[in-house]
Amino acid sequence: MIAYALNVLLQVQVPGVAERRITDIFKPLATPGYAEREAAYFTLAITAAIFLVVGGLIVYTVWRFRRRPGDDTKQEPPQVYGSNQIEAAWTIIPILIVFVLIGVSARVIAGVQNASPPSKALKIRLIGHQWWWEVEYPDYGFVTANEIHVPATSDAQRATYLELTSVDVIHSFWMPELAGKVDLIPNRTNYMWIDPRQPGVYVGNCAEYCGTQHANMLLRVIADTPQDFKAWTEQQQRPAQDNPQLNDARNAFGSLACVNCHQVRGTPSVGKYGPDLTHLMSRQTLAAGVLVNDAKNLRAWVNDPQEAKPGCFMPSMKLNDQQLDEVVSYLQSLK
Ligand code: CUA
Repeated sequence: MIAYALNVLLQVQVPGVAERRITDIFKPLATPGYAEREAAYFTLAITAAIFLVVGGLIVYTVWRFRRRPGDDTKQEPPQVYGSNQIEAAWTIIPILIVFVLIGVSARVIAGVQNASPPSKALKIRLIGHQWWWEVEYPDYGFVTANEIHVPATSDAQRATYLELTSVDVIHSFWMPELAGKVDLIPNRTNYMWIDPRQPGVYVGNCAEYCGTQHANMLLRVIADTPQDFKAWTEQQQRPAQDNPQLNDARNAFGSLACVNCHQVRGTPSVGKYGPDLTHLMSRQTLAAGVLVNDAKNLRAWVNDPQEAKPGCFMPSMKLNDQQLDEVVSYLQSLK
């Protein structure tokens, strides 16, 4: 409900992909999301009761003691100072309520952040960058970006455990349907886990202002069936495809400064500053969810990233048409 407008406005629609675009935090689809919703309902119920009691008393008092014709307005009403019982009651009761709310929140937060991963769990390291997400699969030995593939599961043993950190400023991981926000903080590791129960594409975004392109730091969690997930990891583990017909294109790419920032596994291109491009074409979007990953957008993005994402750290390389064609055809071979 709350996240609805935000995500629908920001996320591009990828043709042929059924995205869960209506991200309703009141209809969670993972265990942490459920636990947090229950805590939120409990807190809302208590605060609503306080609101009704306090508001009701105010309305009653205003009505009951309103000015009436014939009231003596020359004299002050009787002044009453203090009542120990009432003061004790309105001090102790709110303190008790606050402790109950702290206890409930702390229990839910600890349950999500301190859970130790079962042996079959998928482990992912998520690293925040201005303005994209680095996604590392340490057990599988590959890195990707902006789209987090996980197995859909209702088996807690196969949940996905995330370690979150950042290389620059504070970011915040937020997949409204799966779990609450967890910050990615430089020089610190935060933990959380998700177990999306239904396969599908979940959309989310960075939820902590992190600079110019914060609003365009979008991300997707793609919950695959176990078979699809296995196929995806096997494909991601392979080094980049080497198509001899594209020698010129590959050499053109290799001769440009692109290689200082981007890695293409199995080639001399080993930069780490920008996203890993080894299997760029397996991703649905470009530029952290800003553009649909198709030929036209890829060409426009390489030509001038500042057009789609002003202020981002990828410069326009001022390529001529031939260079652009070569770079784009090489990138399109990275399936
Ligand atoms: Cu990253 Cu906001």
